[in-house]
Amino acid sequence: MASVTSLTDLVSEQLTSALSATRPEASADPLLRRSDRADFQANGILALAKKAKANPRDLATEVVSRITTGDVIKDVEVSGPGFLNITIADRAVVENLAARYADDTGRLGVPLAENPGVTVIDYAQPNVAKEMHVGHLRSAVIGDALRGMLDFTGETTIGRHHIGDWGTQFGMLIQYLLEHPGELAPPSEVDGEQAMSNLNRVYKASRAVFDSDEAFKERARKRVVALQSGDKETLELWQQFVDESKVYFYSVFDKLDMEIRDEEIVGESAYNDGMPETARLLEEMGVAERSEGALVVFFDDIRGKDDQPVPLIVQKADGGFGYAASDLTAIRDRVFGLRATTLLYVVDVRQSLHFKMVFETARRAGWLNDDVTAHNMAYGTVLGADGKPFKTRAGETVRLEDLLDEAVQRAAEVVREKAKDLTEEEIQERAEQVGIGAVKYADLSTSPSRDYKFDLDQMVSLNGDTSVYLQYAYARIQSILRKAGDVRPAAHPELELHAAERALGLHLDAFGDTVFEAAAEYAPHKLTAYLYQLASLYTAFYDKCPVLKADSPQQVENRLFLCDLTARTLTKGMALLGIRTPERL
Ligand code: ARG
Repeated sequence: MASVTSLTDLVSEQLTSALSATRPEASADPLLRRSDRADFQANGILALAKKAKANPRDLATEVVSRITTGDVIKDVEVSGPGFLNITIADRAVVENLAARYADDTGRLGVPLAENPGVTVIDYAQPNVAKEMHVGHLRSAVIGDALRGMLDFTGETTIGRHHIGDWGTQFGMLIQYLLEHPGELAPPSEVDGEQAMSNLNRVYKASRAVFDSDEAFKERARKRVVALQSGDKETLELWQQFVDESKVYFYSVFDKLDMEIRDEEIVGESAYNDGMPETARLLEEMGVAERSEGALVVFFDDIRGKDDQPVPLIVQKADGGFGYAASDLTAIRDRVFGLRATTLLYVVDVRQSLHFKMVFETARRAGWLNDDVTAHNMAYGTVLGADGKPFKTRAGETVRLEDLLDEAVQRAAEVVREKAKDLTEEEIQERAEQVGIGAVKYADLSTSPSRDYKFDLDQMVSLNGDTSVYLQYAYARIQSILRKAGDVRPAAHPELELHAAERALGLHLDAFGDTVFEAAAEYAPHKLTAYLYQLASLYTAFYDKCPVLKADSPQQVENRLFLCDLTARTLTKGMALLGIRTPERL
């Protein structure tokens, strides 16, 4: 087995058994955490003392007497009102890291979850025939990172890109295309930009006719009915819009350096056939009721103006189905078809109320329950550097591709300035990895529920909590390893460690625990914070501990080993978040 128990877990186990040996009647969590005073501090005795009505310091002393120091715990002492300060043996630190280093599965010794589930994750869901905006960017970036982290824990993840490919606006678009054939070039003949500009043109033109020509409006309305009833010619034209849009979507996802699988693009239209049944089931179960002709669900706690209840509309009075019906039908499919244990939605906070109502409806219907749960990772709005809603100077919404291109361009400036021996082609390649990484990192390092400022200057800055800083740390390590030439990294547990080495080593040990915590809480920013701290601890180590000029050959090898493990941990963590780490920068 290549998996390694973290030092935190080893110490926690020892403390837990010492605690329960001291007070068998009360169970307590040792509440272990990293500390500046010693390696770890345990605060759990305070709670136990309260429960057992004992003096915390006395209790702590008793617990200490039951801990055997030796291979792992070198020293443990009582401090303050009854904390324990724990120091780990140098040897244990290095041996633990050496076991991680030896793991050739690429997991750095991190074990898989014991009982993983199936998470269906709904993210990166743009709308057909429409430009993608910065909100769609957040969903894609956060969703992809969550998926990377969840996969790493051993969870099975299934992506669902719930694209907006259905609804009344397609009547207008299809009718226009029918009357102006050839306006959309075949998808194989256009690139993403051309595809979007074709779609924009058709959208604008059809809108103009729709608004000015009553007869057209009527034909468009009939077209919606034809679409919903599955008319062949109508569906073919609809498919053209979907295909043309996909060319555009893929070009953006490609720019974002993100892999999207075609079979996971399952939009609103896919649930069309299941919607009548969803409505029937909800009505039969009494979850939904008829109100003024429509089929709706009411909630006690959701009220609008004048305290009037705001219902979720499953079916409109004219018989049509909308967004809610497609989401309810999608839940049935994900729970009963895909056998999901968790449904995760990465959707703009402005749709929170919608999901609250949809989830509650599904719970009343029994589709969701204690074993199958749904969460909305509602993310905040993207703001401009000035903290105002994101707009161009002219007040227009910013095109996502322009934004990404600009990020890459800024990154190219940074890379060019630093690079001495890179060709122009290499600079471009690095610039893409740095620029796109910067956009992703800035997004992920903000707690998702918060609004975040899209500030390119800050994003590509070499100082501070940015991806470029981490990428440089990684590249610097690679350069040291190259300089070492024939001297190979090797662990030497017999050596005494410098304080900076211990701090780095203990942090390296915490990688797996951090990913598990961040994945369980759907909190990518906990992983970015970990990685940033890793790079900072590495910098401190590098300042204080000469690597290639260390005192002895063993010391050189051991430090190279710490360098290499740091690099592997950095690159792994960044990869989980969808960010690349170039070998040279
Ligand atoms: N297409 C929607 C939008 O652009 C997001 C879809 C979210 N997912 C869902 N299952 N409703 O706002």
